[in-house]
Amino acid sequence: MLTAQVKEFGGPEVLVPVEAPDPEPGPGEVLIEVSHADTIYLETQLRAGWGGEYFTVTPPYVPGGGVAGTVRDLGPGVEERWRGRRVAAFVDGSYAERALAPADALTAVPDGLAPRAAAALVHDGVTALGLLERTALAAGDRVLILGASGGMGTLLVQLAHARGARVVAAARGTEKLALVRRLGADEAVDVGAPDWPERARRALGGAADVVLDGVGGSLGAAALPLTAPGGRFSAHGAPTGGFADLDRADAARRGITLYGIADARYPVAEIVRLRAAAFAEAAAGRLTPVVGAEVPLAEAARAHALIEGRGVVGKVVLDVRG
Ligand SMILES: NC(=O)c1ccc[n+]([C@@H]2O[C@H](COP(=O)([O-])OP(=O)(O)OC[C@H]3O[C@@H](n4cnc5c(N)ncnc54)[C@H](OP(=O)(O)O)[C@@H]3O)[C@@H](O)[C@H]2O)c1
Repeated sequence: MLTAQVKEFGGPEVLVPVEAPDPEPGPGEVLIEVSHADTIYLETQLRAGWGGEYFTVTPPYVPGGGVAGTVRDLGPGVEERWRGRRVAAFVDGSYAERALAPADALTAVPDGLAPRAAAALVHDGVTALGLLERTALAAGDRVLILGASGGMGTLLVQLAHARGARVVAAARGTEKLALVRRLGADEAVDVGAPDWPERARRALGGAADVVLDGVGGSLGAAALPLTAPGGRFSAHGAPTGGFADLDRADAARRGITLYGIADARYPVAEIVRLRAAAFAEAAAGRLTPVVGAEVPLAEAARAHALIEGRGVVGKVVLDVRG
């Protein structure tokens, strides 16, 4: 089967097409014929050699962690009902034509949800819904979303709006600001403007009850002063090169609850529940994953270059069907 492998840490060019043997499902596992593979920002950072203190990957390896496809074979002990079903799952190495997943980690893809949309939601849908539950976002809350135009950010904007929150979306550039407004942001703030924190404060009407930081670095840190006393701040993002370095003493003094990347990881049963909920919303037309580019598996290097180039509006998905 065709895979894309990172042969050494480096730029997008280290991601090359490689033929590999088909995997065989072991006990409790299924073999998925992959239709579309998700890509997330983290995969570009791991490919470049970042994140050794949080994640363990050693080249050569097949990157990626989420697929949508069809169950083609069953390992011992797997219920026959899964055969031929359209599913999505986290897998170990998703940039491949076939992948293995434990049967108990599968989420059925409902009728009416295209495989590319399922792939776009396989990670981002889980994390977005999980973050809103973790931070207990409620109707009437003022929420500031950093990285609002990204794969997960675009879902957060829609879901927060649907919950009745006042949504202030921070993104970069006219096109991305227009997108987040269309998705339900009450106000959109351009982080390219040096005075964006003041603009965000005005848009929030003083402060945010919840901050969802999908970018980290100094941008994320600049949002802590915008958080209301007693508020919640999730620092789960690091596309700037690092998670936000937050003033914990200030947060403690003002009664702000801080969440980090470890709080955005869930047990298998929770992942399946959150993903099924995201799929149901999308199948019902209430949640739209924004796919800005679909790239063939053999050109995975181009997909990474597009993500890092930050020019695509929405997320990048790999088309694996050949
Ligand atoms: N996806 C998940 O399920 C998941 C799970 C846990 C944690 N996270 C973390 O959440 C973050 C967002 O993930 P994602 O998958 O939504 O990524 P994504 O679709 O690639 O979005 C990345 C966002 O970050 C912004 N960005 C990129 N480079 C930046 C830079 N140098 N400075 C400031 N902003 C920058 C992008 O906006 P512009 O380029 O337009 O500025 C975009 O809004 C990542 O750090 C990821 O590790 C994601």
